[in-house]
Amino acid sequence: MYELYTAVLRAVLPCTHEKITIFRGALKRIASSMAKALQVEIWRGDANGAFVRYAVPREDNQTILDVVTWVQRNTDPCLSYRFACRVGMCGSCAMTVNGKPRWTCRTHVAKVLYGSDRLRIEPLRNLPIIKDLAADLTPFSEKWQNARGRFKGRKSRHDNLDRVAPASNERQQANAHVECINCAVCYAACDVVKWTPEYLGPAALNRAWVAYNDTRDADRTGVLRAVAKAGGCLHCHTHQSCTEHCPVELNPAAGIAGLKRATVRAYLSGTLKGGLKG
Ligand code: SF4
Ligand code: SF4
Ligand code: FES
Repeated sequence: MYELYTAVLRAVLPCTHEKITIFRGALKRIASSMAKALQVEIWRGDANGAFVRYAVPREDNQTILDVVTWVQRNTDPCLSYRFACRVGMCGSCAMTVNGKPRWTCRTHVAKVLYGSDRLRIEPLRNLPIIKDLAADLTPFSEKWQNARGRFKGRKSRHDNLDRVAPASNERQQANAHVECINCAVCYAACDVVKWTPEYLGPAALNRAWVAYNDTRDADRTGVLRAVAKAGGCLHCHTHQSCTEHCPVELNPAAGIAGLKRATVRAYLSGTLKGGLKG
């Protein structure tokens, strides 16, 4: 629009051939951007809501989050959605885009159009809807707690720090799984979460695998006890949808496989009381 205003201002000043050319060029660019408008359907309301259509100007290098933001700023200020960092760090902007869960600040429109001009944007699946594109992450966060995904220390501030050898297998395993941004994309992509709501899900189990491999933890068997319960790691069918969709390229399915092996070993050696529940 800035270009249009500039061109209009220049055009109302005494005319020259150059000014007329600038004005025509700006008009052409605006007309071309409107001709390339995206047809966007966005979920509005709670679980009983419906899709509402919007026409959004197509821009170069536009992300899905840019599209949602354009609608909220230019058409519908009541549209609810969540984001914070816009650079793929906070994990808060995930939504369902043309049927797949994605982080929207790092997903370019061009990547998901497949030659069409249509976008369908919904909240993440497998979670209650608060409003519009904002899903309620409470069940997702509670499962991290239930999977004992938090560190349990055994030293006081007066003790020396534990040394973790960088080349140790445990450190390597923890390194490979620790960079989770809590986006819940894997949780929304997992069919077992959909079929079995008590299933802890890939992100919580991925975190439990990190905790289990933290050799400084005071109760690593406690992690195995938590994930061996009903709804735990043995529920995973290893179909890898979590790994396929994880935007930061973690492999939760591999971590869950590690937990399965560790729980079975602990059970057979008698250290895991209470048994295994699939
Ligand atoms: S591999 Fe397991 S956790 Fe991952 S999507 Fe499949 S069932 Fe869910
Ligand atoms: S494992 Fe990947 S997809 Fe799942 S919450 Fe973490 S970053 Fe997101
Ligand atoms: S807004 Fe932070 S990851 Fe997208």
